[in-house]
Amino acid sequence: MSLLFVSIFVLMRNIGSTFPTRILNEFDRFLKIVSVEPELPTIPTPKSSQKEVDIPESDKKNIQGLMRINHTGEVCAQALYYGQALFAKDETTHGHLIKAASEEHDHLYWCQERINDLSTHTSILNPFWYSSSFMLGATAALFGDKISYSFVIEVEKQVEDHLQEHIDQIPQTDIKTHAILAKMQADEIRHGQDARDAGGVDLPTPIKMMMKGMSKIMKYLVYRL
Ligand SMILES: [Fe+2]
Ligand SMILES: [Fe+2]
Repeated sequence: MSLLFVSIFVLMRNIGSTFPTRILNEFDRFLKIVSVEPELPTIPTPKSSQKEVDIPESDKKNIQGLMRINHTGEVCAQALYYGQALFAKDETTHGHLIKAASEEHDHLYWCQERINDLSTHTSILNPFWYSSSFMLGATAALFGDKISYSFVIEVEKQVEDHLQEHIDQIPQTDIKTHAILAKMQADEIRHGQDARDAGGVDLPTPIKMMMKGMSKIMKYLVYRL
């Protein structure tokens, strides 16, 4: 109970006169991310110099599901970072999180483009995952910037690992998907290292396990829906 009061106290301290405007901006962002295709990225979609070959139908369905997961992962990444940025304690942390979120926007665009190529759809559950991730990010930020950076380290590590699982599963002949996943993975590793350099540390194991559990549920549902 005392933890709840501390959280409310910290929340109230963060509420200034611009807070309602910021909440409205966040709601606007939520609607855009979950309902329309992303705007053009700052970095174009990674391409391979290798010649493209047709993907067999037997592999296509699996790749469609995996790219749907990666797309939702990028929706969640942006929600987490914007939620954290909303309650960041100093401007440097705020800027760090906004920059990372904008790189996740590029990833989202690349995933959306590949999903369109593969003639499939994004997850119908994205509004739920965006909202949950935003709340999670905002809650983490209420406990301070060090916790926020630590949270980023764990999120990025888990994304790096699941991208590796997808890289291992997707046939090498799908060079377009491989080019995108390889660049995303390199970026996620850098995001994690940047957060460590900024003062983040490893989170306690039970929290890591809880985050892994949530991620497993997300992947199971989004692959199918
Ligand atoms: Fe990403
Ligand atoms: Fe990232």
